[in-house]
Amino acid sequence: MHHAPVMPLEVSQCLVNNPNGLYVDCTFGDGGHTSYLLSNFKNIKIVSFDWDEDVSKKFFKEENLNDRVTFIRENFKNIKESLLKINISKVDGILADLGVSLKQLSNLERGFSFNSNVLDMRMDNRIKLTAKEIVNSYSSEDLADIFYTYGEEYKSRQIAKAIVSRRKTMVINTAVELQKIIYAVKRTGSKKNPATKVFQALRIFINDELENLKTLLFDTPKLLNAGGRIAIISFHSLEDRIVKNNFRHNSNCKTYKIITKKIITPSKKEMKNNYKSRSAKMRIAEKINV
Ligand SMILES: C[S@@+](CC[C@H](N)C(=O)[O-])C[C@H]1O[C@@H](n2cnc3c(N)ncnc32)[C@H](O)[C@@H]1O
Repeated sequence: MHHAPVMPLEVSQCLVNNPNGLYVDCTFGDGGHTSYLLSNFKNIKIVSFDWDEDVSKKFFKEENLNDRVTFIRENFKNIKESLLKINISKVDGILADLGVSLKQLSNLERGFSFNSNVLDMRMDNRIKLTAKEIVNSYSSEDLADIFYTYGEEYKSRQIAKAIVSRRKTMVINTAVELQKIIYAVKRTGSKKNPATKVFQALRIFINDELENLKTLLFDTPKLLNAGGRIAIISFHSLEDRIVKNNFRHNSNCKTYKIITKKIITPSKKEMKNNYKSRSAKMRIAEKINV
């Protein structure tokens, strides 16, 4: 079964301007958006990126879908060079649905979930640094900086100190152990797990997520045909701010027309059926003929 993609209808309605066009899905993940778009637009083709080794286009059982997808295992920040290698210099639309996939999140060997018995959090196993290495070797100041900068965690210093103090007596080996240390410092009455922001921060830092996004956004205007669109689905304010500022800048330079004057969010029904979608925000811009 394909993973339920976030806002599939909204993505397809807003992204596909050319029913015979070539599109890029920067974040193939569980294949949800790629398969939805291919199934609904019979004449489009898609180049799909994902840097996770476990992800593969063999995911599609339907042969006709596979025929219209080219899969590239690469960081989407290298989109321009990767497309050039297969002789593509222009496309009709680019989609990025940021963050981790359901498959990554639910695999306890990957370390993204609070219940993991490892501390890893690399989306691409070619990345050298793991969460275990950071948590067990970085100074208290550096840990606090990471938690504050990438998680906007207001108790970053106390949590960092608690980690450094705990590792004097034991190596912190698992996400479960890390979560317990955070919980002792930060008990909230809210439904949200108190470790959410620290886990987000570690993941963003390890995978260099904000820089990858900035590079993708920088290269996109050169890659889009006139009338082509970029759609970015983000899940937290750090990402959304980068997208908003990039679109605004390109709009001021008369490179983009901003399509989403008002940000697009999932319907109430979708949020109820797909819990992960609740914080999704989509922004879309269109390349102007220059
Ligand atoms: C939220 S999931 C995408 C889910 C997908 N849209 C679907 O409907 O199944 C994000 C995916 O993007 C991948 N990803 C994140 N950052 C990436 C990057 N810089 N380069 C390539 N893939 C990336 C992750 O490995 C993950 O599989």
